Amino acid sequence: MKLNIVLLPGDGIGPEITKQAVAVLETVAQKFGHELHCTEHLIGGCAIDATGHPLPQDTVDACKAADAVFLGAVGGPKWDNLEVRPEVGLLGIRKALGLFANLRPAKLFPELAGACFLRPDIVQDGIDVMVVRELTGGIYFGEPQGQEVRDGLRTGYNTMVYNEDEVRRIARLAFETAMKRDKRLCSVDKANVLEVSRLWRTVVEEVATEYPEVELSHLYVDNAAMQLVRDPNQFDVIVTGNLFGDILSDEAAVITGSIGMLPSASLSSGGVGLYEPIHGSAPDIAGQDKANPLASILSMAMMLRYSFNLEDEAQVIEDAVQRVLRAGHRTGDIAAAGDSPLGGSKMGQLVVDELSN
Ligand code: NAD
Ligand code: IPM
Ligand code: MN
Repeated sequence: MKLNIVLLPGDGIGPEITKQAVAVLETVAQKFGHELHCTEHLIGGCAIDATGHPLPQDTVDACKAADAVFLGAVGGPKWDNLEVRPEVGLLGIRKALGLFANLRPAKLFPELAGACFLRPDIVQDGIDVMVVRELTGGIYFGEPQGQEVRDGLRTGYNTMVYNEDEVRRIARLAFETAMKRDKRLCSVDKANVLEVSRLWRTVVEEVATEYPEVELSHLYVDNAAMQLVRDPNQFDVIVTGNLFGDILSDEAAVITGSIGMLPSASLSSGGVGLYEPIHGSAPDIAGQDKANPLASILSMAMMLRYSFNLEDEAQVIEDAVQRVLRAGHRTGDIAAAGDSPLGGSKMGQLVVDELSN
């Protein structure tokens, strides 16, 4: 198969982890006889430096013409005070590609139980939660948004808004996801306070009638955040809006060992998919070969699975990651006290070596 991939390494640790993930992809492509064609484009702070804008038009055009897109991370202190920040590029490409569904699988590899902050008895059966985050609506995109002087006071505002179509399509995707798993779906909102959440809940209930086999529950987001650390295995699939999903998935990441472990797939209806680790550009460790590349490597596996339907190839990557962990190899973020951690490039090389064996 021919795989036309656009790479958007971005800023901070983005280029480091992208390099490791691409090495893994190249190894798998060669092993299975796929023809890989990767082109690199600018997004985020590096795009601002080179072109004055975080999402140049040729990046959008290249992504639209690709089979799939892989992104490292964007942002960093250098660009934090600009009016148009690097993050605008990421939001822009999600919108331009219609990537309304963000799948964030929080899975604790049993080998990493020691890196999990939860009590051993809570995680003895592992953790396997799929967070389905709405990605192109909600408070991230709602209008009006801005800053102005009101009654002599500087005032900032955003709008949390969803229409029924936006809720219905993410709810359907979440129910479909639950059908392929343990058939339990928890919708997370703030319906005790927010009108937008009341509509969300109504529409999710309507969609539920199409999926009688799925057990649907609802939680308020504050309780959900608490339940996720109290007893993560009560969840199978979580569906929620853009902002709540952003926050809950970072929480879900740390209970699986580290934010450096959690991959993601951003999907549209039938168009090109974008794959990225859920973490950011980690300016505190950038350029030091400390970043864990496994979230990125696992994002490549998701790309093979969701964009190309190459399940065996995806599985081979996930198995190789597991074997590397089983052999005791750890980057700093997942290392136990006293371990001498590996660099990110060494970790990537170990996965490549596993695949080559
Ligand atoms: P972050 O995820 O970049 O970092 C949070 C903490 O996790 C840091 O201590 C970092 O060192 C650590 N960390 C993150 N990834 C790691 C990895 N692979 N291995 C080991 N440790 C890792 O979040 P932040 O510090 O809040 O944000 C930094 C910048 O990244 C900001 O500009 C933010 O807007 C941006 N950001 C971008 C994305 C994205 O591109 N998808 C996501 C989140 C944040
Ligand atoms: C993420 C990030 C982004 C988000 C930012 C950088 C725009 O935190 O991908 O989780 O909030 O969606
Ligand atoms: Mn985030």
